[in-house]
Amino acid sequence: MKLWGGRFVKSEDPDMTAFDNSLPQGKLMYQEDILGSIAHATMLGKQAIISQSDSDAIVAGLKEILSEIKAGSLKIPDTGFEDIHSFVESVLTEKIGDAGKKLHTARSRNDQVAVDTKMYIKNRLQGVIAEIDLLIQAFIDKGNANPQIMPGYTHLQKAQTVTFKYYLGAYAQMLKRDKKRLLNAIDVMDENPLGSGAIAGTTHEIDRQLTTDLLGFKKPVDNFIDGVSDRDYIIEVLADFSIMAMHLSRLSEELIIFASQEFNYVIFDDSLSTGSSMMPQKKNADSAELVRGSSALIIGQLNQMLILMKGLPLAYNKDMQLDKDTFLPAFDRIEHMLLLMKKIVLTLKLNSKKLTAAVKNGFLNATDMADYLVKKGLPFRDAHGVVGQAVLMAEQAHKKLEDLTLEELQQCSPIIQDDIYEYLDVSQSMTKGIKKEML
Ligand code: ARG
Repeated sequence: MKLWGGRFVKSEDPDMTAFDNSLPQGKLMYQEDILGSIAHATMLGKQAIISQSDSDAIVAGLKEILSEIKAGSLKIPDTGFEDIHSFVESVLTEKIGDAGKKLHTARSRNDQVAVDTKMYIKNRLQGVIAEIDLLIQAFIDKGNANPQIMPGYTHLQKAQTVTFKYYLGAYAQMLKRDKKRLLNAIDVMDENPLGSGAIAGTTHEIDRQLTTDLLGFKKPVDNFIDGVSDRDYIIEVLADFSIMAMHLSRLSEELIIFASQEFNYVIFDDSLSTGSSMMPQKKNADSAELVRGSSALIIGQLNQMLILMKGLPLAYNKDMQLDKDTFLPAFDRIEHMLLLMKKIVLTLKLNSKKLTAAVKNGFLNATDMADYLVKKGLPFRDAHGVVGQAVLMAEQAHKKLEDLTLEELQQCSPIIQDDIYEYLDVSQSMTKGIKKEML
């Protein structure tokens, strides 16, 4: 069962075997492992490092194994083999005999697992990017259907009017950057480590360009030692996931606040909410809370990976086997987060009445009034002071700015005229200047 053992006189402690077992994680990468081996065996044959007939037998055997696993007729166990590489090689040798023992010529599990992992991550990123695209589209569609005016906040204090469409557009921008970062990560990692061997390449005349082309990498790695010890690409992807998770968490937090009775701006769909076992009236925005909470796990996985690597000497160390416990759950979770957020956004109901009413108080038109005064010739700093006075006057009279009479407003500045009221009408705010872009 072991790929090694010649120099050992004692067998492995069962607790050690269990501790070293990476099959449950490694088996998720069976496809990449087999495709990598097919490319390697093809190359060994072409280079006459093994005979063409051995190469053909290996490739045919590996293809059979691949389709049997896919069809479910061959099950990968959770124990009994050290890792996915040992399992595949053992099944192959059982299938085709001695030729199977030649597959590992000029290769180490160190470059094998490196190429498997890169291929797996490149593949799964396509799925994540597709989910990002769908979420961006959801932001755009939901926004276009809801050009609704709403308060914009800074410091969670009412600031200026915005539109719901523009507000969601901000998140679309974040997700577009998140996608760019992942595309860049793919570009950076797109170097084939296969051929690096255990650390120092091999004395065989292997053709790394051929396996690079067969496996769809941009180029072979430039350095064997780096080829087998680089896990930057996992860290980079987890860092990109963490940034994206942080964005999704901010949106979740906002939607949870907006769904509270105090705000009552949005209503979560029943299908994405849960209730309380004790309080019959409760409807909680659990979907968003779980997205927000999930960001903690992703950020944790980034930290795990950084800590795992930071003290390792070159080149491969077994610590690195544990990398799978960081990125595998991270992929599942980030995909789930993107999917759930898309559903939350698409099913969210806006409380238009409440939003329209909410822009009427909180002096959201104060900055517009200052802009008005500037247009009438006042330096902005002076205009700021005048409006501040008007706000104070209104606040003391329990009024809104637009409820102040012209005479009252003119006490703050004599240059104010009747056309001020058009600037104080928040529903007009979006029709002026560059704010038109929010519509
Ligand atoms: N199963 C290991 C991993 O997932 C690869 C084998 C590493 N090589 C070794 N000599 N133990 O990282």
